[in-house]
Amino acid sequence: MTDRVKQKPRVLIIGLGLIGASFAKALRLAQSARVMGMDAHPGVADQALDLGIIDEKVEQLSPCPEFDVVILAVPVLAMETVLKQLKPCLKSDTVISDVGSVKGSVVKAAEAALGELPSGFVPGHPIAGAERSGVTAAKADLFDRHLLILTPLPGSSELAISLLTRLWQSVGAEVVRMPVQRHDEVLAATSHLPHLLAFSLVDTLSRDSEHREIFRYAAGGFRDFTRIAASDPTMWHDVFLANRDATLAILNRFQQDLSQLASAIEQGDGETLLGVFGRAKSARDYFTQILQSRQRISDDVRKSLIVAPATRALSSWVQPPGDRSISHRAIILAALSDGQCMVRGFGEGDDNRATLEALRKLGVSIEEESSTQLRVQGVGLTGLKKPDSPIYLANSATSMRLLAGVLAAQGFDCELMGDASLSQRPMDRIQTPLQQMGAALDLSAQGTAPIMVRARASFTSLVYRLPMASAQVKSAILLASLCAGVPVRLQEPVPSRDHTERLLADLGCSFVRQEEELQFEPGPSIPAFDIDIPGDFSVAAVHMAAATLVPGSQINLLQVGVNPTRLGFLDVLKDMGGKIALHHQRKVGGEPVADIQVRYAPLKASQVSAQFSGRTIDEFPLLFVLAALAEGQSRFSGVRELRYKETDRLKTMLEGLHTLGARIELDGDDVLIEGRAGEPFNGGILDCAGDHRVALAFLVAAQVASRPVIIRHAGRLLGAYPCFTEDAARLGYAVTIED
Ligand code: S3P
Repeated sequence: MTDRVKQKPRVLIIGLGLIGASFAKALRLAQSARVMGMDAHPGVADQALDLGIIDEKVEQLSPCPEFDVVILAVPVLAMETVLKQLKPCLKSDTVISDVGSVKGSVVKAAEAALGELPSGFVPGHPIAGAERSGVTAAKADLFDRHLLILTPLPGSSELAISLLTRLWQSVGAEVVRMPVQRHDEVLAATSHLPHLLAFSLVDTLSRDSEHREIFRYAAGGFRDFTRIAASDPTMWHDVFLANRDATLAILNRFQQDLSQLASAIEQGDGETLLGVFGRAKSARDYFTQILQSRQRISDDVRKSLIVAPATRALSSWVQPPGDRSISHRAIILAALSDGQCMVRGFGEGDDNRATLEALRKLGVSIEEESSTQLRVQGVGLTGLKKPDSPIYLANSATSMRLLAGVLAAQGFDCELMGDASLSQRPMDRIQTPLQQMGAALDLSAQGTAPIMVRARASFTSLVYRLPMASAQVKSAILLASLCAGVPVRLQEPVPSRDHTERLLADLGCSFVRQEEELQFEPGPSIPAFDIDIPGDFSVAAVHMAAATLVPGSQINLLQVGVNPTRLGFLDVLKDMGGKIALHHQRKVGGEPVADIQVRYAPLKASQVSAQFSGRTIDEFPLLFVLAALAEGQSRFSGVRELRYKETDRLKTMLEGLHTLGARIELDGDDVLIEGRAGEPFNGGILDCAGDHRVALAFLVAAQVASRPVIIRHAGRLLGAYPCFTEDAARLGYAVTIED
């Protein structure tokens, strides 16, 4: 199957109601599958064929039709029967999935019908719907920007998961994974219970004619609350019977809360009412914020960069935005200080704003004198307040990992959540050391967010060797140690950025480095401070790479942080023949800073040892581009950590660079590149999959392509680097942004 499926799998959709028919229509439109449709009701598949929703209709399962993937879009209670009929047609590599709203019962149905669960079986559930039903209601954009939850089973094959992921992504869905039981609990709370309440309320109000009369006077509140009571009764009958336990559990809790409200009203207890309504409003506002941010980001992510190859040298100067890593740390430490702090040169990107908003939710007052200048009122090391709802950190792993360290020792429970990409990234790397110190962090079964940080009162000192070079993990431990008041001794496999150490040392904490070991002794408190944040070296590196490649270029990058633990890129570029000079070296905010001049230079290959991995981590994508154009064969050793970034950067970079004609391959954890010795790249359409650093690396590659390069899903770049458009224009990139 494999090759055929990779091209255009044959997808059989059984059940052409709203969801099945919409998926069929969208798959056809996206040309990502050959769509076969089948429906138990006579005439429905014919109608779907006439409406152009499917390519082919299937009337019966005997003889078996040929298909690679089957999607069961039938009511959940019918799954077992359909699977039994389907069984003789399933091959060992057939991919089987469904769209049911309850997953536990689907798994049971499959066990009953098929016996042992096949490895191609991966239950799924699109979080999308409409009140209209039937094949004629099919909407090709029904799943666009909606979540699709896959609930892989222990035996599900990665091939099946990735094929389903690709199909759903091709119709615009954002695919996330979740264990079956968690799915059913979450859906019981967020979907099934609201439907039950809506059905029940409308029924109560409509049962006698006197009440029916009142519908004439009902307005927006009633309309919004009861919209879902117009959904398909049969389908919901099935859902409640199938998800009995999880629904009853949440309904029980709700009934208790409702009786409490009733007695508060009866007893004139306004305080209880205000308490409940206030908490609910804040939680609803938080939900609105998630929705808006998801909407904005998905609008942004969809944008493409159209980059024309450079026709003239890059020139001029730019001052990169405030360093992202230092900005996170500066406002976190300011919030934990004992007084009023001033942060100047704050990085304005989305990730930094995620930390800022989180601190506000934790009770810290932050005044924005401008978008880069903040006045932060510190609350002390353990003075944060319990937030009234989970903290949403969008795409920012640094915010999540660092704040988890801080929150571990605050004495209250708190939940940290992120967007789909952040929710796939490993969080067990902070859980292990923090738990060894006495903290309690619950993660998903995959070791990912959401993170539930639970209150703990006592902590012990930690001696820990980090399994990977990660400044985020190191900083989470140091911040937990600071807030809990216990010393730690850490070893890293290779050095990673030391911004946290520098700031803490400046604020009076004790650091001793003994051979390989970093010994940290936190102080009892940290004083108020003012800080100027240097420019972001990782942003400067993008322009350094571009100026190196475009003949005749000469640019200046002003006030750039040149902390040695960040300069792996600079060292490698110099080794490759890059022409770089650091001027006016000085210290800003406890960090070395310089103005950097870069000139065009032809490049030769380099052998980059694993020792560089920690100091170069975010700049490897740029170095891959440079090496692909250099003379000779380069090897980058020990770059496995790139797999755990905003995307799997080894995958996204290799795919994009292959399209451009680069000779790049993986050798275990190493990347091997055969340079083109200055011969330009091809043009083409690349996909950075929403990863702004990959987008920037492709932008650099596009400078020396023979034709324009389109970088898909690149809009997050604008949130990560807000002055990108100005800087691009100033330096001379020919780039436009299109929706
Ligand atoms: C960062 C550390 C690095 C880096 C990220 C920022 C930080 O991540 O990739 O962009 O601010 O500590 P890891 O520590 O996970 O390698």
